[in-house]
Amino acid sequence: MDMKREQWASKLGVILAVAGSAIGLGNFLRFPGQVVQNGGGAFMIPYFIALLFLGLPLMWIEWTIGRFGGGFGHSTAPGMFHSLWEKNRFIKYFGVIGIFGPIVIFLYYIYIESWLLGYSLFALTGKYAACATSESMLGFLRGYQGIVVNEHFSGLGTAYFFFLITFLLNGLVLYRGVQGGIERVCKIGVPLLLLLAVGLVVRVFFLGTPDPAQPGNNVVNGLGYLWNPDWSALKNSRVWLAAAGQIFFTLSCGIGVILTYASYLKKNDDVALSGLTAASANEFAEVVLGASLVIPAAYAFFGSEAMADIARGGVFNLGFVTMPLVLQKLAFGNLFGFLWFVLLFIAGITSSISLAQPAVAFLEDEFNLSRKKAVGIFMVVTFVLTQPAIFFLGRGVVDELDFWGGSFFLVVFATVETILFAWVFGMDRAWTELHAGSDIVIPKFYRFIIKYITPAFLLCILGFWLVQDWLPVMLLKGVNPADLPYVLGTRLGLLLLLAVLALLVRQSWQRRKQKEGVHAA
Ligand code: ALA
Repeated sequence: MDMKREQWASKLGVILAVAGSAIGLGNFLRFPGQVVQNGGGAFMIPYFIALLFLGLPLMWIEWTIGRFGGGFGHSTAPGMFHSLWEKNRFIKYFGVIGIFGPIVIFLYYIYIESWLLGYSLFALTGKYAACATSESMLGFLRGYQGIVVNEHFSGLGTAYFFFLITFLLNGLVLYRGVQGGIERVCKIGVPLLLLLAVGLVVRVFFLGTPDPAQPGNNVVNGLGYLWNPDWSALKNSRVWLAAAGQIFFTLSCGIGVILTYASYLKKNDDVALSGLTAASANEFAEVVLGASLVIPAAYAFFGSEAMADIARGGVFNLGFVTMPLVLQKLAFGNLFGFLWFVLLFIAGITSSISLAQPAVAFLEDEFNLSRKKAVGIFMVVTFVLTQPAIFFLGRGVVDELDFWGGSFFLVVFATVETILFAWVFGMDRAWTELHAGSDIVIPKFYRFIIKYITPAFLLCILGFWLVQDWLPVMLLKGVNPADLPYVLGTRLGLLLLLAVLALLVRQSWQRRKQKEGVHAA
């Protein structure tokens, strides 16, 4: 490598950056939505099993592969996979998913993140204060999204404005680099968002029973809805898939971003305790804070059935419809609404920058571009690719992006990297590498879990998917006929993106070979 690679300034910095990547819209919006869509307590057992047998092992695997690959000058999966299995010429192409996946998630994540910026200002200025029912608040959201024209919005102008600001902010952080941008933002952002979330949880716990005529609708029952386990759900494969999907999404595992962040570690920096700490911080933010906000608040004000109806309408509806309704009923409601959306915006930005970094790092490392050039190219390309998610939001584009980038390829990628780590690189070397410079000793049974249980679990998920969903997804079953061109266009676009990235990998390897040839000569 000609250029000096970037590094983290401190151990706390890298932990907060990975925690910042993990803690995001997934914790405060997607998680409650998933819980409610999958029957409350029914979701939590598969969720915790997925955390212990998938999430935690993958955290350790990715931190270790990342640091290992970084030692060879690679910040992204193609080079890392190649370092793990040098003899195989094709393995680097599987690594393409580790750049593709985060780009695809970035394309819609950043747009949703920008709504949060808009909504924080709307909360402060009272723009949605006249919406007193779920229907009118949903109408406000649809107007903002440009899906309908109503008394609140006459088009996409406002949403586009907030998108531009959010997009530029992300670009600015990336432009300042790993230490000066990402690490600095996460060092301030993560503690701040945790503080805001704790404050809001305390306020929600004091909601008690808001409507004495409905004594069952209260915060305690809302917590019971989440925490009373339902063992019968273990028989339902859909709940298992949803729980595993949530673990991937929330921990930022199987995406490729942890690999990139860990590549900026030094050879003997700890990964075992750092991985565990980052995962624990995320789980605290999700199952303690995230779960104690939206669900108890929605339950206390609406009861379980209305809450489930709202969640069924869209996984983010609880956050954008229910929460503003609830919070504006409180004293200082504008302020609480503002704090809720600002909290989410900070959580969003510390995640979206991590989704961008693999692509930026790929251009820097494999094409020797300066950071500024790499960020510039990334911003121009993703700006263009974000437009369908903005203009065709109501046409199934975001669902299509989320399915491939945010669900399917995560599982494929995680399966490949786990098998590569435990079976090809070999469990003995893998375990030694994981413990190099380590501040803790991981219990031995995790050797067994990483070698057998995690890959078996992942293969089962893929198998279930193939049996249950493959054909309907391929044949675009269930897609509204009017949306077909948009969904198909998105799918073809994704295929093209995958192909372009694979070509870039090929080209960078050819360049490398030529260079080595010149040096050897
Ligand atoms: N892990 C990030 C989130 O939960 C992507 O939002």
